[in-house]
Amino acid sequence: MAVQHWQDFIKKELVSEEKLQARIKELGEEITRDFAGKELLVISILRGGVMITADLIRHIDLPLAVEFMAVASYEQGMRQSDGDVRITLDLRTPIKGRHVLIVEDIIDSGHTLKSVLELLQTRNPASLTICTLLDKFERREVDVDIRYSGFKIENEFVFGYGLDVDEYYRNLPFIGTVDLEKYEPPS
Ligand code: IMP
Ligand code: MG
Repeated sequence: MAVQHWQDFIKKELVSEEKLQARIKELGEEITRDFAGKELLVISILRGGVMITADLIRHIDLPLAVEFMAVASYEQGMRQSDGDVRITLDLRTPIKGRHVLIVEDIIDSGHTLKSVLELLQTRNPASLTICTLLDKFERREVDVDIRYSGFKIENEFVFGYGLDVDEYYRNLPFIGTVDLEKYEPPS
């Protein structure tokens, strides 16, 4: 299978590794202060949320457990999310009475997170809080209450640091924007 190198389609580096790490450290410290005296259940949304989750929890100085959930909204990298969201991997543990922090890579239309929130709310957590690395605020179609946001970004397709284009490029330590004229899907 032929997969393009990211250098062949990157428009620009949007957030450098240094900026990502500095901001995630700030978020971790803020969460530590806000939840002082409590225990956290961090729910990482697969697969994009993996990078920020791994870095963020190293800066949260609280007793915490980590769980994973997978949701399918975009069938392929760039297709629009239509509000029809499926849970493809559910939690192993009950969240009743626990302080839950949902960690996501990006909030775009908001449909994915809204469905996740509605589902988790029915399980009666003590609290439900959202942390997203990126907020594509101009694209919002449904309201979601985001407590922690790393960076607000313009309406451009981004990749790297957990975010994929057709499932590739999640491993890059920075975030770049895609030049759609140059990008070719894997053949
Ligand atoms: P929403 O339901 O429209 O908010 O979609 C959120 C999901 O769409 C994220 O978890 C990502 O998987 C995906 N997504 C949205 N925008 C981008 C992007 O610019 N790059 C890569 N994935 C994206
Ligand atoms: Mg995706």
